[in-house]
Amino acid sequence: MKIDLNGKNILVTGGAGDGLGQGICEAVDQSGGRVIVNDLTLEMAQRAAEKYKNAFAVEGDISKADDVSRMFDRIREECGIIHGVVNNAGIGLGKNAHEASETEVDRLYEVDVKGIWMVCRAFVKQLLASNEVGHIVNISSVQAFATMHRMALYAGAKSAVNGLTRGLAVELGQYNIRCNAVAPGLIYSEQSLSIIGKWTPDPVKWMEDHKSDHQCLNFFTSARDCGNVVVFLLSELSRSITGQTICVDNGTINLLYNNEYTS
Ligand SMILES: NC(=O)c1ccc[n+]([C@@H]2O[C@H](COP(=O)([O-])OP(=O)(O)OC[C@H]3O[C@@H](n4cnc5c(N)ncnc54)[C@H](O)[C@@H]3O)[C@@H](O)[C@H]2O)c1
Repeated sequence: MKIDLNGKNILVTGGAGDGLGQGICEAVDQSGGRVIVNDLTLEMAQRAAEKYKNAFAVEGDISKADDVSRMFDRIREECGIIHGVVNNAGIGLGKNAHEASETEVDRLYEVDVKGIWMVCRAFVKQLLASNEVGHIVNISSVQAFATMHRMALYAGAKSAVNGLTRGLAVELGQYNIRCNAVAPGLIYSEQSLSIIGKWTPDPVKWMEDHKSDHQCLNFFTSARDCGNVVVFLLSELSRSITGQTICVDNGTINLLYNNEYTS
């Protein structure tokens, strides 16, 4: 038994990122799917697409309605129908809620919540208009389940992603369209290091301490670990799963206490 996405066009937003984006695109590519790599600029998307056997690059800011609609038109012209969407594009905000500005909060919710909704909307409309079936995987975060200082706003945005995931599953089940989410734990990526760097001068050490103290499993979750779960959720092996958010976090959210206190 193997995951087979042969003949499927899979759009990965923010796919040019060297974190989750890369792990997801790699997994889609290796399961035979055609990766449609989206990112903010065509150059970024093309540079990433060159890494895969079967990929197409498309630019677009998912927080802008015109960009989303232009992107879907372009994909339709060049690749045909999209069979799966991975809403990976996202930004962070490592600031206490009472210290953040309105502009920062607007941008966070525009990309991490409204952007996902707009991509889902365009995808579902396209599927229904052509009588096709496809599936959605949203990238959430463990922060939606348990959070920490400076993350209330991000935790709120990712909680909205979980709610949207559940609600879309309810609304779209009648069309056999499934919608699930993957909630990664801490992953080594530029986004992680730059956010952690806001409160410690040594983000790499902070991540090492997280690995030993705050996870059940003593190794880092890789972007590819998340990509593997994403392709499972896009494939027919998960045909009975919808509305779920699966944590891919080496057990982080199971720990009530830091390992140091109790082992
Ligand atoms: N890194 C982690 O530890 C971690 C943990 C949990 C969840 N996540 C989530 O995983 C996803 C990817 O995170 P990452 O750490 O790989 O980030 P990253 O910053 O390395 O990559 C994100 C990519 O999205 C693109 N992007 C940003 N805004 C965009 C927009 N408006 N339109 C199109 N593309 C846009 C960026 O250019 C970038 O290439 C995000 O949704 C993030 O919240 C990350």
